Amino acid sequence: MSMPSAPYVPALDSIDPALDLLDEIQRLRKARNAVILAHFYQDPEIQDLADFVGDSLQLSQQAAKTSAAVIVFCGVHFMAETAKILSPAKTVVIPDMDAGCSLADRCPGEQFGAWLKQYPDHEVVSYINCSAAVKALSTIICTSSNAVRVVESIPKDRAIVFAPDRHLGKWVMKQTGRDMVLWPGFCIVHEQFTAKRVATLKAQHPTAKLIVHPECDASVSQLADFVGSTAALLNYVAKDPAKAFIVGTEVGILHQMKKLRPDAELIPVPADSGCNCALCPYMKLNTLEKLYLTLRDLKPEITLDEATRIKALAPVQRMLALG
Ligand code: 13P
Ligand code: SF4
Repeated sequence: MSMPSAPYVPALDSIDPALDLLDEIQRLRKARNAVILAHFYQDPEIQDLADFVGDSLQLSQQAAKTSAAVIVFCGVHFMAETAKILSPAKTVVIPDMDAGCSLADRCPGEQFGAWLKQYPDHEVVSYINCSAAVKALSTIICTSSNAVRVVESIPKDRAIVFAPDRHLGKWVMKQTGRDMVLWPGFCIVHEQFTAKRVATLKAQHPTAKLIVHPECDASVSQLADFVGSTAALLNYVAKDPAKAFIVGTEVGILHQMKKLRPDAELIPVPADSGCNCALCPYMKLNTLEKLYLTLRDLKPEITLDEATRIKALAPVQRMLALG
């Protein structure tokens, strides 16, 4: 019987303090033929050295088409896992294996499978923020930027289960007029924004546009001038003539927003508890030091059971085929 391997712990104390980390990362990414993909919620220093920065959909599109031998995924686990589903022959690594997501973590595959038995005649639309096991049980995957289009692609006479984000699900129901059964998941970052807090900010900044991610509660989204994925929020800010924006999503996005609109005032919505900063604790586990170690050691590596990968691939490909 084989013993389970010990979990990988980044050996931060093995880093020579005299090393120029940025230089080493540049050297190693070439030596490894690696592409560095980063989500908009990563620390600015990681976004700035990535080959590509994007939202979940854009990152999965990049992962599907890259010719690099190694994908270094600076994001959270479900994103790196999606890259592995799409590119099984490539080595996919993530700086910190503990970079999870409250949505994915609170929808375990086995529990989801048992719950789905109540809805045998339903199509299953799963938000990409879920595990490969949940994807494998799904008809089609969506991200926040294409969820409306994905749901509209399902014939009107078909009943739908939507998982795991109840807020995104409710928002899609409102946009499409479709009724859906919702798994009761939520994002621990967006869940902390309250209508009261947002209304106060709007009163304080009457000319600012309120823009929020669809993972927010409906009481917040309904106050917004625009609701969209991280890429859509950036696009909105780039094009809208307003001079101030109240931004209801993880603060990592402000890095690209400031670059697009250095003239605009960007006001992040504070969380209503803890340190009041809307930081995703999972995204922030990735650091420059861990990124260096990942490139040096090609660990920790995303691995997937092949049967699950094949089952999860079809719904991801159905989504990508929608364009
Ligand atoms: P996007 O697809 O909009 O980048 O969202 C990913 C995410 O995890 C939001 O919390
Ligand atoms: Fe998951 Fe929320 Fe973090 Fe996005 S911000 S990765 S949904 S916990």
